[in-house]
Amino acid sequence: MGTATAKKTRNGRAIPRPFLKWVGGKTQLLRDIRLLIPEQFKTYYEPFIGGGAVYFHLRPPNAVIGDVNQELIDCFGAVRDCVGDVMDVLTTHKYEQEYYYEVRATDPSTLTLPQKAARTIFLNRTGFNGLYRVNKKGKFNVPFGRYTNPLICDVANLGACSGVLAETELRCGAFKKVLATVGEDDFVYLDPPYVPVSKTANFTSYASGGFGHDDQLELASELERLHAVGAKFVLSNADADGVRAMYEALDIDTLRIIGVQALRAVNSKSTKRGRVGEVLVTNIPV
Ligand SMILES: C[S@@+](CC[C@H](N)C(=O)[O-])C[C@H]1O[C@@H](n2cnc3c(N)ncnc32)[C@H](O)[C@@H]1O
Repeated sequence: MGTATAKKTRNGRAIPRPFLKWVGGKTQLLRDIRLLIPEQFKTYYEPFIGGGAVYFHLRPPNAVIGDVNQELIDCFGAVRDCVGDVMDVLTTHKYEQEYYYEVRATDPSTLTLPQKAARTIFLNRTGFNGLYRVNKKGKFNVPFGRYTNPLICDVANLGACSGVLAETELRCGAFKKVLATVGEDDFVYLDPPYVPVSKTANFTSYASGGFGHDDQLELASELERLHAVGAKFVLSNADADGVRAMYEALDIDTLRIIGVQALRAVNSKSTKRGRVGEVLVTNIPV
C-alpha cells in the first residue's frame, strides 16, 4: 500500500478531494468554474457526479447529487453512511495482479454494501488509468494498472469525504430524475459526457447506454426549464462542432458561453495529455 497522504489544512484536517479517479474529472477547470458560482444559493445540484471534483471542492451544506451509474452511487452512499466498514474492507485488499483479477471477477451482487464500495475503490485505484468501463453485460472490464505503491485506503481523505457527504441526498438515475426538484435560487452544476471532438476521441461508456446527440439536445432544453424555475446553472462541455450553436439556440436571455482550456489525459487511444477547448455555459449574468 502507498504512503502518500491527503493534503491537510492548518488544523491538521484532510481537505476532501475525489476518492475515485474519474475520466473527465473537473480538477483542471475548478478555477474557471468557481469564478462563476454564485456566493449564495439554496441547494446545490450535480446530476452527473462522476468523481465529484466540483462538489468536493465546494463542500455545499445542502446538496443533491446523482448519476446514472448505480455502482458509483452505491459507493458514495457507503462512504457517506458506513465509511469505517469500507475502510476495514479496503485494508484487506492488496496491489497484486492476480488478486486484482480475482476481485474484478467477483459478482458485486454477492457483496455487502461496504464490500461493494471497497471493491469499486480498489479497482479504481489499481486498474489501468483509473478508468471505469463495463462490457455489454455490465461487467467491469478494465485491466490491471501499473503503479508504484498505490494508496488503496486513504483513511484521511475517505473520512473527510464522508463528512462532506453526511447531509447530501444521493439519487441514482438519468439527469432529469435528479433535477426534478430544482427550484428558485438553487444552483446546478452539470458535467455531462462530452460531445465527441472527433470520431476517435469519443469516450461515453461510463455506463452501458452511452450519451448520444439526442441526450445532448434533451439536456440543453432542460437548461431552459432550470432557467424558467429561477435556478442558476453552469454546464461544461467540449468546444466541439455544433456545441455553441446548440446552446445559442436556447431561449435564455442571460445565457453566456465561455471558452476555457483544460489539460486532458484520456482519449480513447492514447494516454497523451494536451490542451483541449471546453465551454462553460451559464445563465448567471456578468
Ligand atoms: C464527465 S463525467 C462527470 C465527471 C465529474 N463531474 C468529475 O468531476 O469527475 C459524466 C458522468 O455522467 C454520468 N452519466 C452518463 N449518462 C448519464 C445520464 N443520462 N444521466 C445522469 N448521469 C449520466 C456518467 O456515469 C459519468 O459519471
